Amino acid sequence: VILTVTLNAALDITYGLERVAWNSVNRVDAVDVRAGGKGVNVARVLHALDVDAVVTGLAGGATGAELRAELARAGLRDELVTIAGETRRTVVIAARNGSETTLFNEPGPQVSMEEWRAFEERFRNLVAGAEAVVLSGSLPPGVPLGAYASLGAAAGSPVVLDADGEALRLGLDARPAVVKPNADELGRATGLAVSNLEEIAAAADSVLEAGAQAAVVSLGAEGLLACTRDGHWRARPAQRVEGNATGAGDAATAALVLGLVRGQTWPERLLHAAALSAAAVASPVAGEFDRELYERLLEDVVVEAL
Ligand SMILES: Nc1ncnc2c1ncn2[C@@H]1O[C@H](COP(=O)(O)OP(=O)(O)OP(=O)(O)O)[C@@H](O)[C@H]1O
Ligand SMILES: [Mg+2]
Repeated sequence: VILTVTLNAALDITYGLERVAWNSVNRVDAVDVRAGGKGVNVARVLHALDVDAVVTGLAGGATGAELRAELARAGLRDELVTIAGETRRTVVIAARNGSETTLFNEPGPQVSMEEWRAFEERFRNLVAGAEAVVLSGSLPPGVPLGAYASLGAAAGSPVVLDADGEALRLGLDARPAVVKPNADELGRATGLAVSNLEEIAAAADSVLEAGAQAAVVSLGAEGLLACTRDGHWRARPAQRVEGNATGAGDAATAALVLGLVRGQTWPERLLHAAALSAAAVASPVAGEFDRELYERLLEDVVVEAL
């Protein structure tokens, strides 16, 4: 089983409407409510691929209860630790006209030191039975900035880390098997320029020096760049997919952790990551993907050694 950690889980509310008129009244014609946060999205993608995934992290209050009910409906295994604070919501405004998507992400509940210790305890128990661990997303207030470093150090199994800023930078101390930043996150974590592929590769190499065993940088519609000690590879989607790119990174992370536990070669891992994440763009909801497109793209994503 693959353990996914979502410390700042969220109830994702997606409002669908034709167009947004600011300073005016908008009639929402489609409402989707589901459990979210990056680790939850990764688990959802794994579950859809018939891979056993367990969701842990923190959840509390009425919103936390709603989130857990939705996880149960989706058939996902819930090992979230209950906290006193109220789980956050994220609101996604998806306008079909011009396919513009606007996100409002609440910061998340305050977590006490006792709650954090209780989580660490639960994590140690769960990780003992896991083939790999995914640590992803932001940290709620009160959780130490070095959380991913300490969880990674406590994990006996390989870690895939998808985080931003200090949480990512400090997390490198735990020597994660794979980190999956996008270019902006890579730039923030390293303080280096990331305006072209060469700079991105150099910044990714500095992440390897800082402890990561491999860095896979996602480049939006341009695909992915993997930097490892065995070489550098680039995957390009055969086509630009139109749709909602929110959660595409989580689909890429799901493919990367699966490739890790299945012992795939780097070109195979990138092929699956590029195809699965592009297929996720085609699906309006984070954590879901267009299965037919995934299978079709597996035939024509181009992976090259650099
Ligand atoms: N328009 C697109 N067409 C085809 N593939 C795409 C497109 N956008 C993204 N992808 C695929 O999805 C992967 C992840 O996307 P991106 O780099 O935007 O991740 P991200 O910024 O981490 O996103 P998030 O964290 O919001 O899920 C890319 O590496 C690429 O393979
Ligand atoms: Mg991301």
